[in-house]
Amino acid sequence: MGIPHFLVIPFPTQGHLNPSMQFSHALAKNGCNITFLSTEFNHNKVLMLKAAAASSDHHQDNLLGSKIKLVSFPDGLDPEDERRDLQKLLFSIRNTMPSRLPKLIHEINALEGNNNNYITCIVVTINMGWAFEVGSSLGIKGALLWPASATSLTLCDSIHSFIDDGVVDSEYGLPVKTQKIQLSPDMPLMDPKDLPWCSLGKVYFEHLKQEIKTCKLSAQWWLCNTVYELEPVAFSSSPKLLPIGGPMLTSSDHNPTSFWEEDKTCLHWLDQQPSQSVIYVSFGSWSLLDQNQFTELALGLQLLNMPFLWVVRPGNDEKHAYPDGFMGCISNKGKIVGWAPQKMVLKHHAIACFISHCGWNSTVEGLHGGVPFLCWPFRNDQFVNKFFICEVWKAGLGLHKHENGVISRDEIKKKVEQLLGCEDIKARCLKWKEIVMESMEKEDSQSIRNFQNFIKWTKE
Ligand code: UDX
Repeated sequence: MGIPHFLVIPFPTQGHLNPSMQFSHALAKNGCNITFLSTEFNHNKVLMLKAAAASSDHHQDNLLGSKIKLVSFPDGLDPEDERRDLQKLLFSIRNTMPSRLPKLIHEINALEGNNNNYITCIVVTINMGWAFEVGSSLGIKGALLWPASATSLTLCDSIHSFIDDGVVDSEYGLPVKTQKIQLSPDMPLMDPKDLPWCSLGKVYFEHLKQEIKTCKLSAQWWLCNTVYELEPVAFSSSPKLLPIGGPMLTSSDHNPTSFWEEDKTCLHWLDQQPSQSVIYVSFGSWSLLDQNQFTELALGLQLLNMPFLWVVRPGNDEKHAYPDGFMGCISNKGKIVGWAPQKMVLKHHAIACFISHCGWNSTVEGLHGGVPFLCWPFRNDQFVNKFFICEVWKAGLGLHKHENGVISRDEIKKKVEQLLGCEDIKARCLKWKEIVMESMEKEDSQSIRNFQNFIKWTKE
């Protein structure tokens, strides 16, 4: 048996690409070879940012050392098409990419066969389950890399039970009753409207049910970027679930698959700020604020009169107007960047709290930094993550919307002050930090053992 060779195929959004690349780095560190398949659109975007390292070969690049090879397929959309339209992207990928995959695998195997370096395992994130069908027709093993919490995965895996128990309807997956649900007898009650699919609509709900079915059939392991202690209940529900957060978090401080250039000047700026003084505000790669909400947030930060670091993504919230006089007023208090080196920011001693959309990657990175959260979820799994942050781990507080649907400047000010005044929350965040660090550093940590056993399994 040669060196394990993984074909990693993430769904082409930032929240899937980053953990997939972290996972690939962790595999490479363990001596494995990886072929990382992106869409051409994203591949080009990332290449543009890494122009210095770009290779002349468009199809196959060795940007990340000889262990990780980047390859790309078209996603079937035109360059100017809107890729934020999830359904459009999903269906276009399904119509375009599967027919190309067997040829890629045959080419790699023909090229690498002499070195006994055949593709041994296909790893996909959710929505790319079609690749398992290709893999199993060629006798290749499969594993799912779930980009969200293990709990969200077990919730999705229980959709049929929720329907049978009359918690949600079968067409849209929306709550039928207002009655709360409980994931286990010792867990707090959860609102069924926080279930991860509730914000996504009928077509996606149908697709999700199908994807879970495919993953159940074809993915031997469901790998999660988490730590056992954060979600023990989820791990009691299926032996397929493997927490591998330790090795993934250790892999790299950079996100080499970022769509935007990291503005590292903010690290220098943070160095000038006192310990635990800065409010970090970031809503990940996907969520958008409308002008009204953007204004309230800006005014909330202004009212607080504390240092802040705010990520305003290029081409999105960047188009909004700041309130009159805001820039002058914040010039020596605040820093606004288009895209931050978030992992490093969250580990910086100057950060006091994190106003977050509660995307799973941000959640894990915040826990790793030991930073208290102010939760501002927008969609899918973010409501479950908020529930865990506030109710289960007690590592933060939620921001409440006013009847008009807006989180007001006063609410922002009040909650930041409440959070920073709460020593219990701060102490718990440090405890979670320690637990996450242990999973990364202790050689016999469960995450590290799981990861190594997973690699061993691919050699069997
Ligand atoms: C999406 C979903 O929204 C999320 O709920 C799901 O769990 C994964 O896919 P996204 O909204 O982008 O992801 O949020 P998140 O999961 O937090 O991922 C964002 C990534 O971008 C993180 O790895 C974060 O470190 C990175 N990031 C964010 C930066 O590097 N710089 C920034 O300025 C902001």
